[in-house]
Amino acid sequence: MPQPPSTTPDHIGVVERWAAHNYHPLPVVLTSGSGAWVTDVDGRRYLDCLAGYSALNFGHGHPRLLARAHAQLDRLTLTSRAFHNDQLGPFARDLCALAGKDVCLPMNTGAEAVETAVKLARKWGYRIKGVPEGRAVIVVMEGNFHGRTTTIVSFSDDKVAREEFGPFTPGFVTVPYGDASALRAALADDFVVGVLLEPIQGEGGVVIPPVGYLREVRQACSSASVLMMADEIQSGLGRTGETFACNHEAVVPDVYILGKALGGGVVPLSAVVADADVLAVITPGTHGSTFGGNPLACAIGREVVAMLGTGEFQAGARERGAQLAAGLEALRNRGVDAVRIRGLWAGIDLDPAIGSGRALCERLLAHGVLAKDTHGRTIRLAPPLVVSAAEVDLLLGALDLALADLA
Ligand SMILES: Cc1ncc(COP(=O)(O)O)c(C=O)c1O
Repeated sequence: MPQPPSTTPDHIGVVERWAAHNYHPLPVVLTSGSGAWVTDVDGRRYLDCLAGYSALNFGHGHPRLLARAHAQLDRLTLTSRAFHNDQLGPFARDLCALAGKDVCLPMNTGAEAVETAVKLARKWGYRIKGVPEGRAVIVVMEGNFHGRTTTIVSFSDDKVAREEFGPFTPGFVTVPYGDASALRAALADDFVVGVLLEPIQGEGGVVIPPVGYLREVRQACSSASVLMMADEIQSGLGRTGETFACNHEAVVPDVYILGKALGGGVVPLSAVVADADVLAVITPGTHGSTFGGNPLACAIGREVVAMLGTGEFQAGARERGAQLAAGLEALRNRGVDAVRIRGLWAGIDLDPAIGSGRALCERLLAHGVLAKDTHGRTIRLAPPLVVSAAEVDLLLGALDLALADLA
């Protein structure tokens, strides 16, 4: 038997050799985590400012989530949906109450929930709106990111995500994000059944649409009898300082698509949440997943919903977000071209003259902070919502040092 790897280069070497190269991680090998902090195999600690792309909104190892997970692990983990389990009902009821909706359909990954919404909109279009079968159109946004399945990459405009994965799924029309009149023009087509959008585009670089846009989308969808489907997989569940990013404009979509933090950073758990008349088109045998609605995930998801019900995490995102926003403002003359922030979720565009987003993330790593670049010159910051004021100061201090390194 080969010796188990121990040092950082050892671990990276084994991964490079045996795991497919579908990611380009920073050179750090993590082994434990607590709250907003993670520790690597050499004993170094880092402030986690990516938080599993917002899957870890409650931080690493939150005691309430661990207690629920441990208790459920000892009782029952999986039944399949061939039988009932005693966790799905209470989870679904509580999630619907949180979202103000009637029915939820649980899945596992975010991409599966998006696929569920696409199938739902098409079936709803044929059954309820009366679109001829096979002709349904879903309007999507430029710069979107909704996952990695073949159907989802069919309507991505990210060349790397799409290239050589065709033939692609038809039935999608793309409009510019944030442009309500372009959306209204696309909705003139009677075969449109749904509009799929992120209320804030996360992978796109935390792109916040113009004020009033989500309200206009809502109105346009209502007047065209089209489902507004909000992909809140990354923006939802407290990240922006509200339970849902749509709340910032008091907008209620027809369909919420949730994932990431719904599983508490412990298990994959996603869901589509909608009104009964919409989800009624899904009937036995039309959709499902072996692990969807499993009792372990539902027990954890129910605890997540209860935690969000206190409002404490949303308040944390607002308060620490305001602190982060003020600190980032001060960096504008330090090689930072633009800062976009909502709650505890920030996108920072670097002046390309000082370096790439990746280069900045490497310098942040050296100063004890983990963050992730996107689209070349942008970095995203999304610390766990449990981060303290002192930890936000530490992040700002590390950014200051990292920018100085690049200057
Ligand atoms: C808005 C959005 N939708 C969907 C997904 C896909 O989720 P998953 O990676 O769990 O399939 C992501 C992942 O980053 C996302 O940010």
